Amino acid sequence: MKKTVMYAAAFALALGLGFSANAMALDKGPAEITLLATVDAAATPKPAMFPHAKHQEKLACKECHHSKGADGKQVAYVEGQKIEKCESCHNKAAGMTNAKVATFKDAAHTRCKGCHTEKKAGPTKCPDCHKK
Ligand code: HEC
Ligand code: HEC
Ligand code: HEC
Ligand code: HEC
Repeated sequence: MKKTVMYAAAFALALGLGFSANAMALDKGPAEITLLATVDAAATPKPAMFPHAKHQEKLACKECHHSKGADGKQVAYVEGQKIEKCESCHNKAAGMTNAKVATFKDAAHTRCKGCHTEKKAGPTKCPDCHKK
């Protein structure tokens, strides 16, 4: 009887530790994302398919994520940082100095298509990302 209680306690402890270890693990976000601009949005919405997990298998987070310093300049990604939506910074009202990344659309096209072109892998044609 006592043994059973002890096992149960050990089991509960192991579970508890397991859960807290999980809670501390890196938040990798959703595996699949349908990207859609909400700020500076086009009259006809053009959602884009983005297999996030598939990209994470081969690429470091810093390849896409970064933040902004008080001077308005880009700050390199550090593990565990708060990850914001691209358009929270890449929007017309924020007045990006680099016109190539002034909106979510521009930043996404620059980064997504840019890498696919450079690596000669991944889609570069409109309907490959913007499925009808
Ligand atoms: C190839 C580009 C790319 C890579 C690599 C990448 N991500 Fe992302 N991630 C994105 C995009 C794009 C979004 C959606 C952002 C948006 O909605 O504006 C996103 C969203 C997220 C979100 C959800 C943010 C939110 O609250 O909406 C988290 C968390 C996240 N990523 C974590 C990670 C981590 C951790 C890594 C590395 C293990 C990683 N990502 C690697 C492009 C990438
Ligand atoms: C917290 C604010 C912030 C967020 C969130 C953010 N960016 Fe940026 N990003 C910047 C700043 C600031 C720059 C520098 C702009 C300049 O030089 O005018 C930049 C530059 C860029 C550039 C051009 C330089 C380079 O590194 O190639 C691209 C492309 C880019 N961001 C894409 C993205 C994408 C895609 C996301 C979402 C996954 C994202 N950004 C999220 C602030 C942000
Ligand atoms: C730093 C490089 C890099 C960036 C940034 C990047 N990709 Fe990719 N992407 C790849 C590579 C490499 C592949 C091919 C992967 C493969 O076939 O295994 C790919 C494949 C894809 C595919 C096809 C997946 C499939 O199952 O065939 C889609 C869709 C895609 N990317 C969308 C995006 C979008 C949207 C963004 C921007 C939010 C983005 N990618 C940013 C490198 C990148
Ligand atoms: C590698 C993937 C990819 C390719 C290829 C691509 N786009 Fe995009 N596009 C995106 C992402 C990501 C966004 C930002 C999220 C969204 O769809 O609103 C975007 C946004 C847009 C928007 C703004 C949509 C809105 O809802 O406000 C338009 C318009 C657009 N793209 C047109 C095109 C056209 C035209 C082509 C071909 C010449 C093209 N895109 C090729 C990924 C891609």
